[in-house]
Amino acid sequence: MTLLVTNIGELRTHADAGTLADAALVIDGERIAWIGSNADAPAADGCFDAAGRAVLPGWVDSHTHLVFAGDRSAEFAARMAGEAYAAGGIQATVDATRAASDDELREHGRRLRDEGGRGGTTTIEAKTGYGLDVASEARLARVSAEVADVVTFLGAHLVPSGVHRRDYLDLVTGPMLAAVTPYASFIDVFCERGAFTVDEAREVLEAGRAAGLKLKVHGNQLGHSGGVALAVELGATSVDHVNHLDAADIDALAGSRVVATILPGADLSTRERLAPARELADAGVRLAIASNANPGTSFTTSMPFCIATAVLQHRLSLDEALAAATTGGAAALGLDGTPDAVGRIAVGGLASFQVLRAPSAAHIPYRPGVDLTAAVYRRGARLR
Ligand code: NIG
Repeated sequence: MTLLVTNIGELRTHADAGTLADAALVIDGERIAWIGSNADAPAADGCFDAAGRAVLPGWVDSHTHLVFAGDRSAEFAARMAGEAYAAGGIQATVDATRAASDDELREHGRRLRDEGGRGGTTTIEAKTGYGLDVASEARLARVSAEVADVVTFLGAHLVPSGVHRRDYLDLVTGPMLAAVTPYASFIDVFCERGAFTVDEAREVLEAGRAAGLKLKVHGNQLGHSGGVALAVELGATSVDHVNHLDAADIDALAGSRVVATILPGADLSTRERLAPARELADAGVRLAIASNANPGTSFTTSMPFCIATAVLQHRLSLDEALAAATTGGAAALGLDGTPDAVGRIAVGGLASFQVLRAPSAAHIPYRPGVDLTAAVYRRGARLR
């Protein structure tokens, strides 16, 4: 079954074809079969008239904590009244998550995933980290694998209350790691005051690597934690948050292949110093933008909101922000550079794209907060 998407006012491929005006594309099953000028478009079994609107790849949301239970709106309200964000709030979600059934977790995770999907997200990562014992982390990894495309093990999110630090590290690097590896492809660690030190984080990441997982780090979110330097030292795929950086951190990232993921929703919701995205981009660091959907620091699944914020507040250009939310996210998940790469529109590649209710992608930051998504296709299937 083929489908012709015709009358595309602005087609941003984020691949070899670049950006085209007056374009069309054809999908065949789950793949892109043809891209070109609207005037040359071939016939197909079906037709979608984009009516002059913009088409671009589906978003790649490379950092979320989708599977959890409970509500932390009171904590949010206290923060807006002046309290600081602290890692300890994670325990409240751990307690609620442990008390929830598999079905409740699955349903809630799917609801959030689909909410993001209606805003154009076609690839999504989900972290564990609200279980923090072997059975609960294994359950979160299993449910996350049903809900998301990529699963990250974040047993090292917090030392749970009542557990000795050394005992917990032995669990995370031993039985807990063994229980999640059938589902996870990344290991992550919250390297921050109130969570894990650099030495502890190194131990966790090295154990994960030995078990065949790729590395991510929550780094330099609340202070100059050393997470960025550790991510560079170990050759992590990404380091996420990156709010507190000095010149040496930026130089180290620029000299590495580590993707720096900025999380605009968390920057706003914690009233934390904004990640220095402009300086990172100027230094040539590869950037990703992700929603960081979670109940503590960023309860949004909206990638358009994060992109608009990255342009309006973090001073990225439109092109930089769109690249960070597509090909940058793909790089942060190791889903780039293959025929099945995500975040791009290319002949032979996956048909995961969105049609905006606007003539150009500039409308995303130009009209912040407005639902501009007209249609979303994921692997050739229409989501919206
Ligand atoms: O990415 N920083 C650590 N983890 C989450 C917050 C988790 C929570 O507060 O529940 C984050 O911001």
